[in-house]
Amino acid sequence: MSAKLDPASIPLGLYLHLPWCRRKCPYCDFNSHPLKDDQSTTLKEQYLLALKESVSKITHTQTSRRVQSIYFGGGTPSLFSPDQIDQILSTINHCFTLDQDAEITMEVNPGASETAKLEGFLAAGINRLSLGVQSFSDPMLNSLGRIHGRKEALTASDAALSTGFNSVNLDLMFALPGQTLDEAKSDLDTLLNLEPEHISLYQLTLEPNTLFHAHPPKLPQQDHVWAMQESLFELLQEAGYQQYEVSAWSKPGNRCRHNLNYWEFGDYLGVGAGAHGKLTRTDGIWRTLQPRHPNEFMKHASDAETENASLVSDDETGFEFFLNGLRLREGVAADLFPERTGLQLDLFTPLFEKLERLGLFVVENNRLKTTPQGYRFLNDTLEFFLPE
Ligand SMILES: C[S@@+](CC[C@H](N)C(=O)[O-])C[C@H]1O[C@@H](n2cnc3c(N)ncnc32)[C@H](O)[C@@H]1O
Ligand code: SF4
Repeated sequence: MSAKLDPASIPLGLYLHLPWCRRKCPYCDFNSHPLKDDQSTTLKEQYLLALKESVSKITHTQTSRRVQSIYFGGGTPSLFSPDQIDQILSTINHCFTLDQDAEITMEVNPGASETAKLEGFLAAGINRLSLGVQSFSDPMLNSLGRIHGRKEALTASDAALSTGFNSVNLDLMFALPGQTLDEAKSDLDTLLNLEPEHISLYQLTLEPNTLFHAHPPKLPQQDHVWAMQESLFELLQEAGYQQYEVSAWSKPGNRCRHNLNYWEFGDYLGVGAGAHGKLTRTDGIWRTLQPRHPNEFMKHASDAETENASLVSDDETGFEFFLNGLRLREGVAADLFPERTGLQLDLFTPLFEKLERLGLFVVENNRLKTTPQGYRFLNDTLEFFLPE
């Protein structure tokens, strides 16, 4: 490290992981576990206690910093009741100082019982929703093993958008098993007609350790996927959405502050099963990790030390900065590099010159960014940043 790190100048978010779902989807590699009905009430109560305990402990490491955003992710956080979410938020409010306009997001799944809770979540303090629609087509939802159909997706979207949240994100996936270009466009059309503030558009990928990886469904071929992506991007642009990250599109002024903080290499605390965090201290950047299995997390929540912490090396720090920042369509401000990494940007000058010659990268208006070509082949571009 050669520049000075000042933790107080780095924005701080808080991520809470709620690891249960009604059923495990065959494509999903998130840390999520099916919740059996007969265990549901007790497990959720126990988990809530563990979360509250863990939140109170983590405070000691970060006494003077304000929290700018909170994100309840999963799993299916909306399996918890508004009262339980209210309790966690009260603990957080008790332990931390939140920005007055802090963004507080919760992931919600379509389904009658979740939809009925939306007003309660709003009253508890959630001000941004992220709804996992995935598709509006019954056959597609069926092939994805989702427990909801088109009707529930529409009802939940309408309810999310009319309940009074500051901002609503809808998740949509494309390149689904057997999906044609027209079907993908029709899905996006339906979603655009709902006019959410934010859209996350993901290409379905086959992740290791999933049922789809072991028994792959027939997916559209790569050249069809490119064509599909291009058509969907055009529709999004025509409808007034701006792409600001690989999968994230928003109406002006509605970018997700919590996720932007990850991509701009800000700090975040991670609480809950398998949650990881990143914390800057004057001595360097630390990664934290809580036990991955919910039972292990609950078992250790009352221990003195609930998480593993490790110092990130300078090489990894530089790579991670670009791994995150170059996901942004407009790249990342050059000034953030020394501020957030404690390293000098000159270290990368030879690499920047090489990538500029290859037409993959530019420094423009004091921003570090990929060219359209570099963005299209982002993974290849990022490989150049890997430490030797
Ligand atoms: C944390 S996940 C799930 C949120 C919520 N439980 C749900 O299923 O709606 C967030 C989003 O990642 C996307 N996703 C999950 N697995 C994926 C995969 N294998 N390929 C592409 N997108 C995926 C889905 O759109 C999902 O809504
Ligand atoms: S996709 Fe969502 S609902 Fe399905 S298993 Fe993963 S986290 Fe749970």
